[in-house]
Amino acid sequence: MVKGEGRNILAFNGSPRPAGNTSYMLESFLEGARQNSSETEMIPTHSLDLEYCTGCLRCNVLKRCSVSSDGWSELSAKILDADVLVFAAPVYFHHVPAAMKKMMDRFRSFIHVQITETGLEHTPWQRWDKDFVLLLSMGSPDPMEAEPVIDLFRFITSILGSENRLHVILATRMAVIKQLIKTEQELNDLYVKLKIPGDLARLDYPRNREILEDCRNLGFHLGTTQIKENE
Ligand SMILES: Cc1cc2nc3c(=O)[nH]c(=O)nc-3n(C[C@H](O)[C@H](O)[C@H](O)COP(=O)(O)O)c2cc1C
Repeated sequence: MVKGEGRNILAFNGSPRPAGNTSYMLESFLEGARQNSSETEMIPTHSLDLEYCTGCLRCNVLKRCSVSSDGWSELSAKILDADVLVFAAPVYFHHVPAAMKKMMDRFRSFIHVQITETGLEHTPWQRWDKDFVLLLSMGSPDPMEAEPVIDLFRFITSILGSENRLHVILATRMAVIKQLIKTEQELNDLYVKLKIPGDLARLDYPRNREILEDCRNLGFHLGTTQIKENE
């Protein structure tokens, strides 16, 4: 018999647009996870009470961030406690928006870094065995424009622990709010207005449904730990 056990999911929304396409991807993911009775919390990065990393590097000795005048202590405890960390963001100039990067820089305090002859050796203070989820919405039809973001997350995921896993879903050719949930006719009208070749709307409409479905399915799949009993 296989029994599911809900997991603790902490999600960050890096879009400043509440009805942006990032939010729809994230909401679909969380819907899927909730169907599996997971605990979910969603935090918009623009509302975070966080200072910038001061670059003091004292975390290498203190094993925590030296900045204590903001919400990092509470937030970092939530991050460490989560089984799944979701980073949903629009691509801004081939990267994540500044508010999300501001938070990511504070992740430096989770690891010890040693300079070696050939590079840097990263050792996390805690054992990390988490699923990292990256949901990206972008204007370009070319997924390569998201590569610097994906590369950042490959790096962060791997330095925090070899047992971590990274899952990525991309939505390309996204410009206006609610675009992902538009009907085929609405999408067609939008593409005419934006001077995007109309026949692409016919292709993008089912693709958009699929993206939301992929987000929901990933949420459902990651929302539970499968425990095998009587084996
Ligand atoms: C400041 C800024 C920079 C952007 N840079 C890029 C980019 O480098 N590549 C890209 O494909 N789209 C870029 N875009 C478009 C957004 O990624 C795209 O519209 C995204 O779907 C917005 O997500 P949202 O609807 O959740 O706000 C940029 C948008 C803004 C506002």
